[in-house]
Amino acid sequence: MTDEQKRNLVKLAKDAREKAYAPYSNYQVGAALLTKTGLVFSGCNVENAALGHTICAERTAILKAVSEGHRTFEGIAVVTKDGGTPCGSCRQVMREFAGDLTVIVADEKGATKTYTLNELLPHSFGPDNLKKT
Ligand code: THU
Repeated sequence: MTDEQKRNLVKLAKDAREKAYAPYSNYQVGAALLTKTGLVFSGCNVENAALGHTICAERTAILKAVSEGHRTFEGIAVVTKDGGTPCGSCRQVMREFAGDLTVIVADEKGATKTYTLNELLPHSFGPDNLKKT
């Protein structure tokens, strides 16, 4: 990904964070996912009074893309107040659709760090493990 693509994705994730529904944790998260075809799907966290039903921002974005027919991804930007990295469940859902993926995390001041999914989820379990021989 180019620096310009990364900056643009962070901006779109920041915008998506404005839509976060996080009345219980007050921890708003925004994500923006770039497909290999150049489209962007954004998402925010959506909490629920039955707390276990909360959906993370990253999974919102990925499920939006997949449900619209897009399954190949270049990178994802995630914006939180403190630059937190994606949770384990989101890393595993990313892994389902991308052998490797650029993951940019940003805090609300704009400081960014870039990882690969392999760095965040080494030795992962994925679709290949269930391929029939
Ligand atoms: N959250 C995300 O949206 N993404 C993550 O990767 C970590 C956690 C949300 C879930 C919940 O609404 C809030 O952040 C606090 O856990």
